[in-house]
Amino acid sequence: MNERVGETPGPLHQEEAEAASDGAEAAPAPRRRAAPATSPFVEFFRASAPYIHAHRGRTFVVMFGGEAVIDHDFPKLVHDLALMHALGVRLVLVHGSKPQIERRLKERRIPLKFHHGVRVTDRATMSCVEDAVGSIRGRIEGLFSMGLPSSPMEHARLRVASGNFVFARPWGVRDGVDFQYTGGVRRVDVEAIKQRLDSGAIVLLSPLGYSPTGEAFNLSSHEVAAAAAAALGADKLISIVEGKGAVDRRGRLLHQLGPDEAEAIARDGKHLHADTAKHLLAGARACREGVRRVHLVERRLDGAVLQELFTREGRGTLVTAEQYEGLRPARLDDIPGVLELLHPLEDAGVLVRRSRETLEHELERFIVVERDGMVIGCAALEVFQPENVGELYCVAVHPKYREAGRGEAIVEFVAERARAQGLSHLFVLTTQSAHFFRERGFEPVSVRRLPAERRARYDHKRRSKVLFRAL
Ligand SMILES: CC(C)(COP(=O)(O)OP(=O)(O)OC[C@H]1O[C@@H](n2cnc3c(N)ncnc32)[C@H](O)[C@@H]1OP(=O)(O)O)[C@@H](O)C(=O)NCCC(=O)NCCS
Repeated sequence: MNERVGETPGPLHQEEAEAASDGAEAAPAPRRRAAPATSPFVEFFRASAPYIHAHRGRTFVVMFGGEAVIDHDFPKLVHDLALMHALGVRLVLVHGSKPQIERRLKERRIPLKFHHGVRVTDRATMSCVEDAVGSIRGRIEGLFSMGLPSSPMEHARLRVASGNFVFARPWGVRDGVDFQYTGGVRRVDVEAIKQRLDSGAIVLLSPLGYSPTGEAFNLSSHEVAAAAAAALGADKLISIVEGKGAVDRRGRLLHQLGPDEAEAIARDGKHLHADTAKHLLAGARACREGVRRVHLVERRLDGAVLQELFTREGRGTLVTAEQYEGLRPARLDDIPGVLELLHPLEDAGVLVRRSRETLEHELERFIVVERDGMVIGCAALEVFQPENVGELYCVAVHPKYREAGRGEAIVEFVAERARAQGLSHLFVLTTQSAHFFRERGFEPVSVRRLPAERRARYDHKRRSKVLFRAL
């Protein structure tokens, strides 16, 4: 038998064969075989493969509030975390405990005491804190002991390591208020945590810290998460938030922020869930202390962590000092740099020639990537109404700085701007970079799809490909 897989003629093959064997010159052109539909699972799995590869061996600190732990969907979150662990991510979890502490205070009729939003922890409150933290740890450790339910990894033993990994210092007396057992993070025992991670365990940190005098202190879980992520040099801090991620005035999700912006939005706080504001402040701090990426992910969206980490679109807000810092709207003094960047590409016929005057006129549409005072990348967005779509054009990265994600960051930055303006689609015309855009979610379409005004300007000699992406 020398049957070869994939060569069994299907129904369309047979029709084509019959048409051909008729031998008639005027036989209709053979029909093309319809491509078999790819299952969404296969597409999803293929698309997530690069992320699985990129995340393996990386350290992620994941923080969630006590609200997540009491939710009946908490096992789903644990399952997603267990899956990340199984895919090779080194996980450090940080849990909050606010509702659990408050329930105990209420049961014991101990009044809640706050000063400037910080809990004052007296002896009685501290016993509620210790009690709450103990029960949360127990629940988390129990759920991880189940492995990955309903999968071949059911009952696989996932080891959770918790312990005295965080050193604390007392808040002391401020504004004449003695905070007693409320503390701040003094140091994180990086060595001990890394040892546990190296041994294949998931590390669990609680909002409790210990002083060299042997006392326990009540800490903010947000502070523990930010401090641990920074001290460990974590690749990501993932904050599972109670509200949405960061949103603008109209409640629309902000997909990417720099640390300064994140902090400003958190301090303003008007449109945010209080929990999101705390996560943003912690995220901004972690970012400044070297954590490359901080993701805010909405807890109520089932599987949002997986989507944020394993798909291109993501579902939450990303806070990062990287790339973002260099990306900003163009200013008048950028024009020489932009011209210098575009000229060689225009000479090579890659981009359409634009004069200095045109550029000045269109300046508001441009964004640039600045590095050490030099423009090393740019792009522009032109809005078309009433079609409510935008053209992304003049996308360029200086040859010396290519292949480091800048092109992609530019596309995403402009897409974000377009989204913020309420546009439904982004399109691009290109002669040589169609694949670059296709790999970033753009689909080739006919020229007819262009807005009327842009179609009228379409250069039929240049024959650029048109690609659209839904926002
Ligand atoms: C297209 C361009 C902006 C990409 O910039 P970049 O900073 O290198 O982009 P990124 O680092 O985000 O992405 C690099 C990836 O895109 C691929 N890529 C780059 N140019 C490509 C092209 N023309 N066609 C297909 N893929 C391309 C690279 O091979 C690399 O792939 P990899 O990640 O699998 O290795 C840059 O090459 C450029 O300035 N080109 C000339 C201008 C241009 O063609 N602009 C588009 C028309 S508006």
